[in-house]
Amino acid sequence: MYQPVQLSEDIFYVGVNDRRTELFENMWPLPRGVAYNSYIIKDEKIALLDTVEIGQVEKFLKKVQAVIGDRPVDYLIVNHMEPDHAGSVNIIRQLYPNVKIVGNKKTLPMIEGFFGITENLMEVKEGDELDLGNHKLQFYLAPMVHWPETMVTFEETQKILFSADAFGSFGTLDGGIFDDEMDFSYFHDEMRRYYSNIVGKYGSPVQKALKKLGGLDIKMIASTHGPIIRSHIHEVIEMYDNWSSFKTEEGVVIAFASMYGNTEEMAEVTARAIAEAGIKNIRMYDVSKTHSSYIISDIFKYKGLVLASPTYSNELHPNMESLANKLKHMGVKDHYLGILGSFTWAGTSVKRLTELGEALKWEIIDQSVEEKHALKKQKYEECRTLGKALAEKLIAERN
Ligand code: FEO
Repeated sequence: MYQPVQLSEDIFYVGVNDRRTELFENMWPLPRGVAYNSYIIKDEKIALLDTVEIGQVEKFLKKVQAVIGDRPVDYLIVNHMEPDHAGSVNIIRQLYPNVKIVGNKKTLPMIEGFFGITENLMEVKEGDELDLGNHKLQFYLAPMVHWPETMVTFEETQKILFSADAFGSFGTLDGGIFDDEMDFSYFHDEMRRYYSNIVGKYGSPVQKALKKLGGLDIKMIASTHGPIIRSHIHEVIEMYDNWSSFKTEEGVVIAFASMYGNTEEMAEVTARAIAEAGIKNIRMYDVSKTHSSYIISDIFKYKGLVLASPTYSNELHPNMESLANKLKHMGVKDHYLGILGSFTWAGTSVKRLTELGEALKWEIIDQSVEEKHALKKQKYEECRTLGKALAEKLIAERN
């Protein structure tokens, strides 16, 4: 029934869309859903590359069977064990008892741990090849992109890189499967939000993987999430290179927590001064309203950052604390940080945000501002001074 989606004559997309899950990893909002991509190579031997999240298995199997009919799957290549891709491994083994499950030495214990599968496993090492008949697969380890067992598979004949999570994106594939079947720019923000929040902590392993794969003549990138890339390969590799090396653009993210509007007012004043100084990209977020994944995504994009929080029970406002913890956990690098805080009887928030900036080795703009009670004339001017100083740092970096 399903019209097969072909990457080439005998390589097929058999992925599914998930529009029902609210939170990816039960944490990251999915307003545009998410795609779990899987692929089949139909050769003398049949190889299935990754599976899908278990809740989507029925749709997935219909597509698999539409491609291969009654033939069995000979190899299941497990590039990545996170259950959004490996969730259906056990079902595949039950349906095709003779399927050989292919992974590396870190994959196979996970297969046993998650599914109790200990037989008919095939361990591959860096650079090993698997011959399917006409098609040959090469395996490259890509640890921590995004789990330690992650590997990618390169198909030599068509030069397709099955890249696991790398080059993936949030968002379902709404008819268009390939990047040139859609307005690809529609995916840019969701691609960065996916990268920054899911893989962003692992910039250094991503850099290593990019260097390793740099020698391959890649004609298509088939990730486990988002569009299949065949017309924007250079562009997406450059995007990943920039994000993983924390290269940013000129602009400022202002993230504030504010209970009654006093800290927000300080943020507004600072934003105006930044704009007056000539910075056009300013993104202001209330951390109690906008999910941190969107804020973090923009922090990966722009070099300037202002964090503003009232003191709450002698600590940061809890929602700012949550954002600060995530940034610390991710080890986000190379930003200018402006700090704003307010308090009613004892101020702690500026101290905490300063500790955050120091822990991340960011350059903290000298003029942090801390106001008691409502914003008054002196601190108003200090907010303006801070905004101007931050803008000048950014402007000084223009060519
Ligand atoms: Fe899409 Fe790390 O799983």
